[in-house]
Amino acid sequence: MPSLTPDLDPSMPTNAPVMSSNHPATKAASAVVGLQWGDEGKGKLIDLLAAEHDAVVRYNGGANAGHSVVIDGQRFALHLVPCGVFHEHSIGVIGNGVVIDPVKLVEELEELRGQGFGVAPERLAISDRAHVVMPYHKAEDALREEVLTSSAAGSPKVYDQAIGTTRRGIGPAYSDKANRATAIRMGDLLRPEVLREKLERVCYFKNVLLGSHGPIEGQPHEPLDPASLAERYLAIGDHLRAHIVDTTYLLHDMLHEGRRLLFEGANATLLDVDHGTYPYVTSSNCSSLGIPAGSGVPGRWVGAITGVLKAYSTRVGSGPFPTELADETGDRIRERGREFGTTTGRPRRCGWLDLVAVRYSAMVNGVDELGLTLLDVLSGFDELKVCVAYRLKDGSTTERFLPDASALAGAEPVYEVMTGWDEDITAVRHRADLPGAARQYVELIEAHARVPITTIGVGPDRAQTVR
Ligand code: GDP
Ligand code: IMO
Ligand code: MG
Repeated sequence: MPSLTPDLDPSMPTNAPVMSSNHPATKAASAVVGLQWGDEGKGKLIDLLAAEHDAVVRYNGGANAGHSVVIDGQRFALHLVPCGVFHEHSIGVIGNGVVIDPVKLVEELEELRGQGFGVAPERLAISDRAHVVMPYHKAEDALREEVLTSSAAGSPKVYDQAIGTTRRGIGPAYSDKANRATAIRMGDLLRPEVLREKLERVCYFKNVLLGSHGPIEGQPHEPLDPASLAERYLAIGDHLRAHIVDTTYLLHDMLHEGRRLLFEGANATLLDVDHGTYPYVTSSNCSSLGIPAGSGVPGRWVGAITGVLKAYSTRVGSGPFPTELADETGDRIRERGREFGTTTGRPRRCGWLDLVAVRYSAMVNGVDELGLTLLDVLSGFDELKVCVAYRLKDGSTTERFLPDASALAGAEPVYEVMTGWDEDITAVRHRADLPGAARQYVELIEAHARVPITTIGVGPDRAQTVR
């Protein structure tokens, strides 16, 4: 029987990592991830931390993300472009794990240029292996949502179980990635023969799928023409040509040159396809666990993970939300926090802070420190409730999160009640200057999450930060 151990030539270089787990190089990369259901204020934190890093790297999701950065009162919304773009020295990298709608990306770059932040080719690298979101993915996204909604025209059954997606084609693009035969990658946009050949095949499958249903979003399906689709996307590929590279080698080259990377999590842990409230999740690994696969950088390079949470909870789209407030208090939080989607404009569902969920997310991500945002929104409430456990249908209580939608739907929050504060805290810059009740709120979160809070947001602006 042949040996399973290959003969090793000791003179050959190996791919063994250049550092051990306690080598300083393990601090070369950091990450920011959302600990709730998205929109925690990751954009603001990433913009702040980008000042200390050489590159900001997206590894998951697509244009479903909407990350806000506010600088001196000017508001920017980023969907695909990494949030380091406002720092001249920072390179943005869109890794292989992202699904890219190149039309949206070009629009976003144009918009940034119009706002005075043009992005030169050497400041934005796009993985040639990132998958492309095509127009038929958005149609498939809408089709699934319509069939799962009771109002679906021509739907054989009434389900009322839509996921409430952003309809940006995210799920169908990741499905095609797993399906392989119907996938297009960014590198294909630079290879005319390959793209034309692939689109012939893809359009056959998509016309069968989309043509077999009635109108989608009120529009009858126009059969897809592979030739014209290919020409359109080859032109976009040509436009983005200078950006499309092998980002895995780029990132490793940067690490070996001692340059620092900041990974930008999109969406959030409770929307993670494996660790979130499945099936009401997105289609990627949004937690820090997605970093290695979505970038080609082993997790051991990531030395500091910042988990971002807002001082209460929000959720957009469907799915269980134990601390949801479908009442005046929820409306008050929505108005004060301006809780309307950055991507879709949808009103966000609002509720009290759920520390069972936050502690779970901190554990799954391996979070080292917390960024608490939107604390200013809670000024003026007589009392604040914080969920510290769940009561289950059998009467028992648990401090463990239930990362499955049907299980979580049966959980009732057990609250600890805190005294609120009246003071406007938007001008506070030092933790010691927060009102006593606000400090107690912060300390309660640290005690339950078992992680220190190192940054506190007291307003949307970059400057409105307690560090
Ligand atoms: P992201 O997706 O996690 O980047 O978050 P979004 O940008 O979608 O949503 C967060 C919203 O809260 C944005 O409108 C931010 O400008 C705003 N924001 C961030 N931090 C703070 C804060 O500390 N206080 C207030 N009032 N707003 C904040
Ligand atoms: P950021 O990065 C909030 C939600 C959608 C929907 C579900 C699936 O801004 O925090 P999808 O379009 O991804 O298939 O939708 O996930 N969702 C988000 N909610 N913030 C996000 O991103 C989100 N990305 C996806 O609302 O419920
Ligand atoms: Mg957002």
